[in-house]
Amino acid sequence: MKGFFITGTDTDVGKTFVTACMLRTLVDKRIRVIAYKPVQSGAQWQDGKWIAPDVDVYRKVIDVTDEDGCTYLLQTPCSPHLAAKIDGVTIEPDHIVAHVHQLQQTYDFVLVEGAGGIAVPLVDKSFLIAHLAQLLHLPLIIVARASVGTINHTVLTVEYAKAFGLQIAGIIMNGFSTPKNEIEQENIRMIEAMTHVPVIGEIPHMTNFSHQQIVWRKEWWQ
Ligand SMILES: Nc1ncnc2c1ncn2[C@@H]1O[C@H](COP(=O)(O)OP(=O)(O)O)[C@@H](O)[C@H]1O
Ligand SMILES: [Mg+2]
Repeated sequence: MKGFFITGTDTDVGKTFVTACMLRTLVDKRIRVIAYKPVQSGAQWQDGKWIAPDVDVYRKVIDVTDEDGCTYLLQTPCSPHLAAKIDGVTIEPDHIVAHVHQLQQTYDFVLVEGAGGIAVPLVDKSFLIAHLAQLLHLPLIIVARASVGTINHTVLTVEYAKAFGLQIAGIIMNGFSTPKNEIEQENIRMIEAMTHVPVIGEIPHMTNFSHQQIVWRKEWWQ
């Protein structure tokens, strides 16, 4: 069984978008894959029920129900620890681990998407996204912006992950111009030089999704 824990340098950096790109590649290779969002805050009301917006994006590529694709669906769009408190829900990391183990029985590849970045409190100040990544024993993928500001955010995220002893499979940079400009090109070079972690993917900003535009610099699915 293969899998990754997908985190990012920030919220809205493109974790879900990049997860969908990875799903597309795995599906094209006929690999049985699922994407899973353990804790989704900011549930949306659609057709008479609450749905998980990130799982709804995964559904553009794979068949997945909210029940399989999410354990905790919370209503307020904020940090999971606060959204859970507002909803009166207790997040139990063991339930998340059990859910992942169950998915690992059925699928050959599991992509787990965190919430926000790696230092986001999941339960409280002593149980963060980084702790969940530790519990799941999945290598990390860090989604980072392609544009200005990304060097600082990415280096900090990598150093924080290393402090938790997490294995980092690679960085996927998202939102490139077409063609890539000089600043973006230098960002890739400097991030690799400073972190010693490979940039394994380049995703352009896409007005219309087209998987031909995705550049994988490493065969991460192997
Ligand atoms: N490469 C891209 N091209 C076009 N739109 C993108 C791209 N990456 C992200 N977006 C858009 O930016 C928003 C935030 O991305 P999302 O993947 O939801 O971030 P995150 O999961 O990190 O919070 C979404 O509306 C998404 O469709
Ligand atoms: Mg997301």
